[in-house]
Amino acid sequence: MHLEWTDSGDAFADRAAAHVASLLAETPDAAIALPTGSTPIGLYARLRTLAEAGDIALVGAHYFNLDEYVGIAPTDRHSFAAFLRRHILDEVDIPADHIRLLRGDAPDIAAEAAAHDAAVAAQGGLDLAILGLGSNGHIAFNEPGAAWDAGTHVVPLTEATRMANAAYFPDGFHVPSHGLTMGIGMIRAARRVLLMVSGAAKAEALGALLDGKPDPGWPVTALVGHPHLTVVADQVLRAGR
Ligand code: PGA
Repeated sequence: MHLEWTDSGDAFADRAAAHVASLLAETPDAAIALPTGSTPIGLYARLRTLAEAGDIALVGAHYFNLDEYVGIAPTDRHSFAAFLRRHILDEVDIPADHIRLLRGDAPDIAAEAAAHDAAVAAQGGLDLAILGLGSNGHIAFNEPGAAWDAGTHVVPLTEATRMANAAYFPDGFHVPSHGLTMGIGMIRAARRVLLMVSGAAKAEALGALLDGKPDPGWPVTALVGHPHLTVVADQVLRAGR
């Protein structure tokens, strides 16, 4: 594991963007899983700036979302699909056939999960999974106790996660009871993992990873021993540890 402490804000986003840039320099058609949440917003802004300046070529890569709300259409602005389009994908004109976003409102949700796995497999698996971290240690929507060998599947969301996510929507959006998520098996199989950790609330979860003991109660510890794991963590968090 490679751990980098940075200042919050621009430095945090810049470090993460540098990792994406170095992957794309090597593998322009990389398959990349993208997170939502507050943590990657600065990264996406930085990638947009780099793309506009011609300093990074994002258009050759293939993009997948890590997770989505069950029952929410990709066109709904509360969806993770809409978030990713707004912050990065539509802004840098990624071709439609390079984007595979989960359809939370699919009539057959199991078939939708299988289609996501098949689309990743068709690209030869993930070259990079970019992850945020839940304060309870979740990665994507894999909550404590999740199986570590799964592909994309439906999961119930914990109350803590539903409350954390509701905070982003002052319009009173009712966070669904279930999510659709890439499983830990699929995330662990990514050739590279970039874990972005920001804020003191994540200190305990990061601590579980740094302790180095795999523990299903802390899903992030499934990454212990990953051959190419980079953690970018901000100083706020270091102070909280
Ligand atoms: P956050 O969420 O980036 O909004 O803190 C991270 C996560 O829960 O995975």
